[in-house]
Amino acid sequence: MEKGTVIKKGVMFAAASAIIAAYGCERPNPHKLSGDTSAVFDDCPTPSTGSGNNVNPTSGTSTVASTTGVTTTTTGGNGPTPGVTTTGVTTSGGGSEGPKVEKTELDDRELDYSEALRTASMLVVGDLPTLAQIYELGDLPPEQQKAKYEELVDKLLADPRFADSMLDFFKYTFKMGGASTVSGEPTRETAPTFAARIVFEEKDWRSILTQQTNTCPTYNPTTKTFADGSCNNLPAGMMHSGMLTDPGTQSLFYGNLAFRRNRFFHETFLCRSGNEQAGGEPTDMPPQETPCAGKDKIPGYQNKWPVNEIAGACNNAGGVDFHDYNTGNICANCHATWNHRSPLFANFDSNGMWQPVNASGEYSVFVPVAGSPKAKLKDWLCVDPATCPPNVSTAWKKTMKVDGVEQAAPAANLTELGQAMAKDDEVIECTVKRVWNYAMGRADITEIGGRSWVNLPDRKDPNAELVTLSKLVANFKSNNYNLKKVLRAVLVSDDFTRF
Ligand code: HEC
Repeated sequence: MEKGTVIKKGVMFAAASAIIAAYGCERPNPHKLSGDTSAVFDDCPTPSTGSGNNVNPTSGTSTVASTTGVTTTTTGGNGPTPGVTTTGVTTSGGGSEGPKVEKTELDDRELDYSEALRTASMLVVGDLPTLAQIYELGDLPPEQQKAKYEELVDKLLADPRFADSMLDFFKYTFKMGGASTVSGEPTRETAPTFAARIVFEEKDWRSILTQQTNTCPTYNPTTKTFADGSCNNLPAGMMHSGMLTDPGTQSLFYGNLAFRRNRFFHETFLCRSGNEQAGGEPTDMPPQETPCAGKDKIPGYQNKWPVNEIAGACNNAGGVDFHDYNTGNICANCHATWNHRSPLFANFDSNGMWQPVNASGEYSVFVPVAGSPKAKLKDWLCVDPATCPPNVSTAWKKTMKVDGVEQAAPAANLTELGQAMAKDDEVIECTVKRVWNYAMGRADITEIGGRSWVNLPDRKDPNAELVTLSKLVANFKSNNYNLKKVLRAVLVSDDFTRF
């Protein structure tokens, strides 16, 4: 990947030690469920931001032990401080005039539009600014540089080479591209090309999940133009659902019970690791239902779905027991959500071709039990009307929030799945966070410490320039879900132009 300068930006920020710590270690997280296997890194060393200054003798980061025995780190400042926990804050020192806003090196960053232009240019067109551009900006008096910088960013974003950059970005994000190494399997280019085209042509990003035709476009790198293309992997009359029906994606992530496909869409569109114990729809509610009549409740079960809706030993003999658990690993915490969703991906065969369920009710994927049978709906969900709860059916989630309002998220087919995903607040937020991450030169969002650490919360911060999640979402929605505009907003933001 040609991401040299992207990394450079990360290195610049890493000068603030509060940030560098977020890359290779995990912050102490009092909300972590016991046995959470997502935490693959050691706890972070206590960040130190150096000695204090005259304005605030307690500047930098203070570390206190909260009553739960969890070490809690608080960090002030305006910068991106992902993963910072703020529970049980009892800052030490600080004098007698009430709570002080702590300062970090992030507050001492200075505007440098020339430096920002270098990074923006690498991100947007994959090359450094020209000498002419450097002088055009750098020779201006400081007060005129902001407007000139924005003008140059707009020129970069209008450059045809932006198409190449977006193609690279989506190959990296989707972890796919090129031809398959297995003969008969489809190219892995179509989904990244489709995504890059939507951004480059400034279309409604939600098409990535809802567009019904032309979802396998092609790209001409010489002319830097996209051309319509059909995926040709669905039966006549069936409509596409954006990249949910992409043959390359379905082929690449083929696997038992279609869980690998589900994992891909889960991680890509929710920015959440599939390895999180709270991987489905975490809730604080203690279990309400037993897996089957006469059984005990599953201790520690935390998912919004009634657990008796999914398959397990007591309702699907010989299948996978998704009611199983031991200390620290409760299958249904993840699978209660996943089993409601995965059957929707199970029609695609290993070549990404959609096949109807056969007369025996069999899908195109297998169950990893003795004899490796083909999967039936009962291998995911409890669907026997005689013994199972009524109306068990596929869904995106049990509930999702749409513009902050909680609602059910059923999905009888891929079309409904795409439409549900496209309006889920969590999907919208994940989308803009990925753009912020890209601009800031950070690693893939689901891979940072095993979960999404990108918060960008609203704060009572005097800095009106601060980029927050709600501002990025508002920008995205008010520009008809134009992702390029979101990228522009980040590139001209205070965070991006200070060093
Ligand atoms: C932390 C969330 C989580 C928990 C807990 C979990 N799984 Fe999974 N499961 C996954 C993910 C993610 C995949 C997809 C892995 C992949 O192929 O990338 C998966 C895949 C599977 C598969 C298909 C594997 C294959 O052969 O391709 C089976 C079967 C399965 N899980 C059963 C279980 C059972 C039984 C338990 C409890 C003992 C369990 N899982 C606990 C997340 C979870």
